[in-house]
Formats: sequence, structure tokens, C-alpha cells
Amino acid sequence: MRISVIGCGYLGAVHAACMAALGHQVVGIDVDPDKVDALNAATPSIFEPGLGDALAAELEAGRLRFSTDYADAAEARVHFIAVGTPQRRGEGAADLTYVHAAVEALVPHLRPGAVVVGKSTVPVGTAQLLAERIHADQPDASLVWNPEFLREGVAVADTLHPDRIVYGVPAGDEGDRARAVLDEVYAEALASGTPQVVTDYATAELVKVAANAFLATKISFINAMSEVADAVGADVTHLADAIGHDPRIGRKFLNAGVGFGGGCLPKDIRAFRARAEELGIGDTLGFLREVDAINLRQRDRVVDAIAGALSVNDGDRYFGSDSSTGSLVGRRIAVLGLAFKPESDDIRDSPALDVAVRLKGLGADVVCADPKAIPNARAKHPQLAYASTAEALAGAEAVVLLTEWREYRDLDPAAVAAVASGRIVVDGRNVLDPDAWRAAGWTYRGLGRP
Ligand SMILES: NC(=O)c1ccc[n+]([C@@H]2O[C@H](COP(=O)([O-])OP(=O)(O)OC[C@H]3O[C@@H](n4cnc5c(N)ncnc54)[C@H](O)[C@@H]3O)[C@@H](O)[C@H]2O)c1
Repeated sequence: MRISVIGCGYLGAVHAACMAALGHQVVGIDVDPDKVDALNAATPSIFEPGLGDALAAELEAGRLRFSTDYADAAEARVHFIAVGTPQRRGEGAADLTYVHAAVEALVPHLRPGAVVVGKSTVPVGTAQLLAERIHADQPDASLVWNPEFLREGVAVADTLHPDRIVYGVPAGDEGDRARAVLDEVYAEALASGTPQVVTDYATAELVKVAANAFLATKISFINAMSEVADAVGADVTHLADAIGHDPRIGRKFLNAGVGFGGGCLPKDIRAFRARAEELGIGDTLGFLREVDAINLRQRDRVVDAIAGALSVNDGDRYFGSDSSTGSLVGRRIAVLGLAFKPESDDIRDSPALDVAVRLKGLGADVVCADPKAIPNARAKHPQLAYASTAEALAGAEAVVLLTEWREYRDLDPAAVAAVASGRIVVDGRNVLDPDAWRAAGWTYRGLGRP
């Protein structure tokens, strides 16, 4: 099948490479010429495990190429829309500028029978408007809404082996025809038994935001429990294990820590709330405001934990008037992790980077490390100091783990003690072994862990 993928960022670049890996003939279209050049050279500007190899193999095989010219998409039967839908500046709602621009640019190149497939996460109601726009110019083209559930860090595997495939299709014969075309694209996954849900546009759009709202709620739930645990000296990790054994609850996404971030969950729950307001049912999703607030509060809790721990060791240099928070001015802090999650260089709405910026703003001498995200972080926050993990740890009075990369989880407390100047470790992801660190002489602070 001839396929175009419009928008070649975290989602689109992976999708294009994986569709080619399935044997389709793929052209990726992006407005950013540097991105297109990098993708054509199999050197993507993003870090995603396996993406570079997949690009190299498919470019070499002649099944994949990238272009800035929409005319290069004209021969495709299926066009995936994978452009960004960021949060509107100063508002909760999604910015649909890129989606509308992509469809406008694509429409003149659609041939009869073409199927446009929306993958971007959009507010409910968008697909219907886009379908009308497409029909106005090309009545024989169709739109399917096919939300994407890939997880950064394992995006290649998730794209090749999705855990479900959802289509929102128009009613009647048009929907049947469009579905048959998309079934051909996903033939391999469908043949292997991947669950498929075929529904209407509104439901398909809602599936995606509902899934993200649920995941965000689960994380904020356990983070709220971690605040309760802190208040009473309980251990939220044991609590999560115990309630997670109930299959109705499940253990995944029950790790208390500095909270969720990235280019999806935060903006998606805000956009969902904003859309509910527009629909006159704002109260229904009022709980997502609390989910967001709990999530953002985790960042304060981590900063408080660092400040509190440092004041225990040195009460002389207070910051501000509240002596209970301790002073951070001039204190040397190693920040381990900047990406919003491990195995990614994505720093969009990253809690880790936000904590680093806050610590710097409070006067701390922050040195930040991350295996992959430093270039992105430096471009956004040149005021921060960046270094290798070893350099960040050397002379640090406090160590704060904020992204649970394997190399940080595996740190040897004795080895870190040999190079750091202090013995304070704040585990913003609750992934270190408190007993091991305490045995090596460290003051350990987690979130909701005694
Ligand atoms: N990243 C994820 O893990 C993920 C997962 C599921 C869904 N999504 C959704 O997918 C969409 C894309 O997310 P992303 O993380 O890939 O964003 P991104 O910012 O990494 O990529 C968007 C790309 O679209 C390009 N673009 C913008 N306008 C364009 C236009 N008019 N024509 C062609 N290209 C254009 C940009 O240059 C950029 O390369 C969003 O709606 C997001 O919510 C993302």
C-alpha cells in the first residue's frame, strides 16, 4: 500500500518507519526541512530506541523517504495525520492549527478513494469537521479516526504490535470501504489477533483522551496516597503492591513519584477539560483539575524534600524566611534525569526538568545529567549547568533522582558516597533501595516512604 505520514515528530517518524517495515511504500511529509534531512539520513533528531535502525533499513530498502513537499504524498492511498496538537498558550485547550494546516495542504493532492487517517490526539468533534472539509474538495475521499497509543521509549514495538486498534469511521458504505483499506494497512497486526474496536468518530476521539485521563488519574491517585503516607509514616510502595494485587486495580501506573509529564498526558487532560467546558459539561471533568494539581504538587514536594534534608545537615544558610524549608542558595545539587521518562529525550512538560529549574531559581548550584535529554534541555534552559553523571555527582551535597533511567536505578551508594560531598539522596521516583542507601551512610528521602 502507498502511504503518506504527515508530521514526522515522535509519533510520525516512528509510524512512517514501522509502516515501511510492514512492507508498505511510505513517504513522510514534514514542514521542518532540517527534520526531513535528518530522517532521510537515518539520523533522527529525536532519541527513540530502534528508530535509527528502522529508518536505515527502510531507507536502504527503498520503501521509505521523507519530503517537505505535499505533492510527494499525491500517489498515496492512505494518509496518516500525525502533526502536533499542543496546548494553546495560556489556555487549557488544544491548538489545532497544525491539524487544520495539514489537512488544507493535503486536500489538493487527494485522489478518489484516498483515506485520510487521523492519529493526532484531538478534542472530540474535530474529526467530523475535518471529514466535511475533505469531502468539500474530494467527495470520494474518506476520513478515519485512528487514535495512537504508543509509548515513547518503546514506540517501535508498540507501533508494530499495538495492544488494540481503534477506528472511528463514517456510517454506511463509506465507512465499510475506508475500514477495508485501513485493515489492509494493519493486516499483520489484525491477523495476529490484535483486538479491534470499530466505532464512530466521536467515540474514537474520546477513547484516546479517556485513556490518558484514566492513566493520569491513576498516577495522581497514588501520588495523593504518597502524601497521606508521608503524613502518617506509612510506605506507599507497599501500599501500591498490596492494592495492585487486586486485578481490578493492577500494579501498573501505581508508582508514586515526581509525577507525569511529556507531550501527551498533561496537555491531553487540560484539553479534555477545556472541551468539556465548551460542551457545557465542565463539572463532569472537574476532577481532572485536581488530578493536574496533585501532579504539579509533586514537584513542590521534591523541592521541599531536598530543602528540608539540606537544612537538617546545615541550618546556617536559610533561604527566605521559612527556616523549615532550609536554604538552597549555593548548595551543590546533582540532578539525575531531565527527560520526562527513561529511554526518551523528550523534555516536554518534564517534571524532572521543572524541578531542576526550580532548584536553580532558588539559588542552588545545580548540575544536571541525563543520558539522552541534555541537548533538548540545554536548548530550552541554557541557564542550567549540564554534565556527565560522574561530573554531576562529584562534590554534590545532595543527589536527586528525577528520571528512572536504568543507570540511575543501578547506582552503587558506596561508589556515589566516594565522590559526593554530602550524603543526601532524594529519590523522586521511589526506585532506589532505601535500606542499601542508608546502610552506606546516606539520608534517604522518597515520596511517601519512611
Ligand atoms: N508522542 C507520543 O508519544 C504520542 C502518542 C500518542 C499520540 N500522540 C499525539 O500525536 C500527535 C503528534 O505528537 P508528537 O509527539 O509526534 O509531536 P511532535 O511535535 O514531535 O511532532 C509533530 C510534527 O508535525 C510537524 N508539523 C507541524 N505542522 C505540520 C504541517 N502542517 N505539515 C506537516 N508537518 C507538520 C512538526 O514539524 C513536527 O515534526 C499529537 O497530537 C500527540 O498528542 C503522541
